Amino acid sequence: MPVSPLTAPPCEALTGTARVPGDKSISHRALMIGALAVGESDIHGLLEGEDVLRTAAATRALGAEIERGDDGIWRVWGRGVGGLSAPEDVLDMGNSGTGARLLMGVLAGHPLTAVLTGDASLRGRPMARVAAPLVEMGARVMARDGCRLPLTMIGTADAVPIRYRMSVPSAQVKSAVLLAGLNAPGTTTVIEPRPTRDHSELMLRHFGVDLAAEETDEGLAITLTGQPELTGHGVRVPADPSSAAFAAVAALLLPGSNVCLPDVGINPHRCGLYETLREMGADLSFAQQRQEAGEPVADLLVAGGPLSGVEVPAARAPSMIDEYPILAIAAACARGTTVMHGLGELRVKESDRLAAVARGLAACGVAVEEGADSLVVHGIGGRPRGDATIASGLDHRIAMSFLVLGLAAENPVRIDDASPIDTSFPGFVELMATLGAKITKS
Ligand code: S3P
Repeated sequence: MPVSPLTAPPCEALTGTARVPGDKSISHRALMIGALAVGESDIHGLLEGEDVLRTAAATRALGAEIERGDDGIWRVWGRGVGGLSAPEDVLDMGNSGTGARLLMGVLAGHPLTAVLTGDASLRGRPMARVAAPLVEMGARVMARDGCRLPLTMIGTADAVPIRYRMSVPSAQVKSAVLLAGLNAPGTTTVIEPRPTRDHSELMLRHFGVDLAAEETDEGLAITLTGQPELTGHGVRVPADPSSAAFAAVAALLLPGSNVCLPDVGINPHRCGLYETLREMGADLSFAQQRQEAGEPVADLLVAGGPLSGVEVPAARAPSMIDEYPILAIAAACARGTTVMHGLGELRVKESDRLAAVARGLAACGVAVEEGADSLVVHGIGGRPRGDATIASGLDHRIAMSFLVLGLAAENPVRIDDASPIDTSFPGFVELMATLGAKITKS
């Protein structure tokens, strides 16, 4: 992909209404679960970002029929649980950890061999956390040193249902085990000591899977009955709360702003950032709350105003794991100190986000303390200096976070390569322009 630098100059207030693209997590799941259902599944509002397009291509290569209509609706004709076939070529999952890890779960429950690869970022990310339970279920995984991509999955027609207690709080691992369990006889259970996003559970139920979740002494136990007859279903994908976060924080930081972001998913397992921003004093509310395909949705209303530093507990990390970079930007402009705990997982995202955020803020004139799994940001109580070029390191959220900082700084902030933004938020620059932010090429 060609390198594409972007610069965000300081901006005054943002105003208006803009719908951010569909939820990335839900879009991947809609395609994969649709591919395992019999009959047609119509997906409205699918995220057409690079990551999800890779999942569409991979599920197509496994035998599902997938078409995008001129009406923007994606139609999937699935092959039934256990009905996918071996791909003729390597499955290139691009930058997408969710695509790769969930697909490993799907592949584990099929008697076929598939090779997965990805870009330099994805090839550097740990896959052992997913491979371990899938091997317990009977799949074979052959990978590069450190269990990294490229890797070969050899699935099985006779997957063993397991009871698996997760050691890292990861919705991707949970989902991979549940997707593999779909084609195992009997019940597969995943135990989560700390709850993570439950989009897979909600969507599996929506497609007719018998799935129960109950509190136990060990944590939340999610149990699914394998080998169901899944039938095609319609899915409405809410706007992505993780994408909405960039426009919302930009509006909060620019006094006089008034922004409405419609149809945003407000699943409680995704709302940790919004809870934290409210604790910081943000004028932020969820209007017209409703349910769509089992997911809670609302219009997010945001007004600019001063923020104060807070302490963010480690227990909140799973519900805002992707939002720490943009929270750190808010913290940099807030009055006082913000302390974030429990950030170890940030080191194995699309980049080492803890290091990238600390480095980037320091370059923009903000005092930070980077711990092994914590971050302290000493807020300026106004506009930070800015005036820096930030390396995105193949990480969409680092790129967008620092562009937001540029809008709220005294001087422009430049991103060396903003092309990764298309993995999750195609049209980011244009959407921000409709609200009044002039992010420019170069
Ligand atoms: C995701 C889960 C999270 C998150 C990622 C999307 C998902 O990853 O960071 O962007 O869709 O299940 P982990 O499962 O590694 O925490």
